[in-house]
Amino acid sequence: MNMDVKLQEKCECRTDSSKFYNSLMNGDFRMKGECAVSLLLTKLDIVNVELSMERKRTVIQIKTGRLKSFESTCKKMKKKGLELNFPTAVERINDLIGVRAVCSYVDDIYAVADVLEQQSDIRILKKKDYIQNPKNSGYRSLHLILEIPIVFKGGTQWVKMELQLRTAAMDYWANLDHQLRYKKRKKESDEIDEELRQCAEVVDKLDKRMLEIRRKIDKL
Ligand code: GTP
Ligand code: MG
Repeated sequence: MNMDVKLQEKCECRTDSSKFYNSLMNGDFRMKGECAVSLLLTKLDIVNVELSMERKRTVIQIKTGRLKSFESTCKKMKKKGLELNFPTAVERINDLIGVRAVCSYVDDIYAVADVLEQQSDIRILKKKDYIQNPKNSGYRSLHLILEIPIVFKGGTQWVKMELQLRTAAMDYWANLDHQLRYKKRKKESDEIDEELRQCAEVVDKLDKRMLEIRRKIDKL
């Protein structure tokens, strides 16, 4: 291969990746993503008001939303063996647009999911119940991959996003697990994995006990 061809390939690669970057971070997609996050957060506000009145306590404690960074999108796509381009990212990475809601009790998670599922302007594409079926790591949460319609002058577009529903205890575990994963060294990795799994069990027991206590109080 002569130098010219090599140089050309390098440039094309750079052009492609900057095209990918721009489509993901600067274009239409980002604007729609931000709208989708706001819409779902508002929908969760309404669900929260309704359920909190009914249950006479706070059902959703915290809500957050974010668009996945370019760096972590590329990292996830490489891990999944995907080609780094915009159409593949939109098709295959479900959490490019993500919202998380932290609920008080495990049964609140399912109540929130049920209400959302019944709404005509939400399409549920996939439900991943990592509470009933925790991941090997010990991770627990209920994930809904859903689509919501955004109405623009040019028409309606259904935007795909991931909603993670979890308790405060699950959230605590997931945040520390996420932090520790980056610091973990290969040698001690198996042992640490096991310790984290055990901590996830403790968290699960705590959630179950708190729910039992609440049910006892509800009956009084
Ligand atoms: P990746 O697991 O990231 O490849 O995503 P996926 O598209 O295969 O979906 P999955 O349902 O496995 O995970 C989606 C999201 O859930 C992740 O991006 C994380 O936010 C969260 N998650 C999944 N597994 C874990 C875990 O073991 N620990 C932590 N802290 N979060 C997890
Ligand atoms: Mg995964």
